[in-house]
Amino acid sequence: MAAAGPGCLLGLVFLAVLLPGGAPLLQASQTWTLLKVQHLLGRPPALRHWRRTTDFCGGGGTVAPSASVVCYGDTVTQLHVEGAAQGAPPLPLNFSLGALVTTLSRLPDLRVLTLSGLGLWGPLPGKLERLAGLEIVNMSRNYLYGPIPRGLSRLQGLQTLILDDNMIGGEVPGWVGTALPALAVLSLRNNSLAGAVPESLGRAPSLRSLVLASNNLSGNLPDMRGLASLQVLDVGGNSLGPAFPRLGRKVASVVLSRNKFTGGLPAAELSSFYLLEHLDVSLNRFVGPFPPALLSLPSLQYLSIAGNRFTGALSDKVPCGDNLRLVDLSSNLLMGSVPACLRPGGKPATVVLSSENCLDRGDGSQHPSPFCQNQALAVGIVPRHNEKKKVSRHAGFIAGIVMAVLVAVSLVGAMAFFAVKKMTMEGAKTRPSATLMEDHTSTSSAYPSKLFADARMIDL
Ligand SMILES: *[C@@H]1O[C@H](CO)[C@@H](O)[C@H](O)[C@H]1NC(C)=O
Ligand SMILES: *[C@@H]1O[C@H](CO)[C@@H](O)[C@H](O)[C@H]1NC(C)=O
Ligand SMILES: *[C@@H]1O[C@H](CO)[C@@H](O)[C@H](O)[C@H]1NC(C)=O
Ligand SMILES: *[C@@H]1O[C@H](CO)[C@@H](O)[C@H](O)[C@H]1NC(C)=O
Repeated sequence: MAAAGPGCLLGLVFLAVLLPGGAPLLQASQTWTLLKVQHLLGRPPALRHWRRTTDFCGGGGTVAPSASVVCYGDTVTQLHVEGAAQGAPPLPLNFSLGALVTTLSRLPDLRVLTLSGLGLWGPLPGKLERLAGLEIVNMSRNYLYGPIPRGLSRLQGLQTLILDDNMIGGEVPGWVGTALPALAVLSLRNNSLAGAVPESLGRAPSLRSLVLASNNLSGNLPDMRGLASLQVLDVGGNSLGPAFPRLGRKVASVVLSRNKFTGGLPAAELSSFYLLEHLDVSLNRFVGPFPPALLSLPSLQYLSIAGNRFTGALSDKVPCGDNLRLVDLSSNLLMGSVPACLRPGGKPATVVLSSENCLDRGDGSQHPSPFCQNQALAVGIVPRHNEKKKVSRHAGFIAGIVMAVLVAVSLVGAMAFFAVKKMTMEGAKTRPSATLMEDHTSTSSAYPSKLFADARMIDL
């Protein structure tokens, strides 16, 4: 007896540890809710193994990486369901996103929700606000459309909202910056958002990562110098611009590619971004001298200025930062030679792309230097359709002044003309003023080409 006692005890302890009952069982109502979610999602492959008998809180619902259920005590706090990498076709017509959200609201402690690549379709329902505990939401790669509903602004704990690769439309709502005090990550990549990026995003107190790439946004970005935590800004592939955005000094990654940014880079400001690792301003309309100081930013690893009209001469001696890995200077108007620190054999091994400039590389990848000189002079002075002509800086400048004078004179002339015309018609009082307006615009838009022709004559 005395000898069997400790053995029995050990056995019991052993059993207690081994039994799945070691974790509390999920409340029966929540098990039922999870099975309803499985049904509403059309029993996706990731959830095929869910049964009434599944021990969800003991890890039985989890099949990494596509499905997982996490409990705290006997209640579900996290639910991740991911479809295949390429996404799923839209769920059948009897699918209802509203019903799914209503069902999920029966998991009152749900904090983290991933439903990506599952074929969800429909407008985002305002009743998402019922999932009041949500902190992290990822509903990427579905077929969500319509605007971002106001209801989301009630999710006061929301820290991360990811709705990439959907068809969300309308504007980025003005309240995102101010109504969600905890919002740290906002990612709305590859949707159909239009309009301007709201000013309020410049005041989002916790914002760390803002990704609005591949939408149809336009206008200038809000002033984001006050966003002390902002590290990632990716707005590539919109119609944003013309001004380079104002950013806090702690940014680590800035992607502005494929937009309508123009003017020069704010060289002094950029050289204070000591944590900047990734800067991509490619395929915009930037002009002006390329600031070589960018190459020596201490943290910079990736720099692309490709496909703009940056000018200036590089030299052997321009220094490079220790962390540079890729520099793309292609398709600009740069002259001189690639800095020694960027040439093969330099350390660290940096990949450098520089074709279609006027650098002295002698490998056939470059334009002859007069090309860059002429293009550089043309930037900002000569209108687009006049670019091919050779103009000296002087002649261009004079032509500019002459054009300005001519425009002023002709505007005054046109105004006088219409004033007279209006007076002569005053008696008849037949034509509505809208017609006059049309006349005026068509007349004034007819002027420039004549003016340019005149300017060309003078310029010869
Ligand atoms: C939708 O219809 C299909 C086929 O009729 C059915 O198998 C499925 O259970 C229905 N789904 C829902 C969520 O009602
Ligand atoms: C959101 O879901 C997508 C698709 O499953 C995944 O690739 C991405 O990493 C997720 N984002 C985050 C921040 O978890
Ligand atoms: C953008 O999202 C659509 C779905 O709305 C998807 O089909 C497409 O592959 C995505 N594009 C990219 C480049 O990811
Ligand atoms: C993008 O917005 C502009 C107006 O800002 C509109 O003319 C254009 O059709 C939109 N493009 C798409 C693809 O929605």
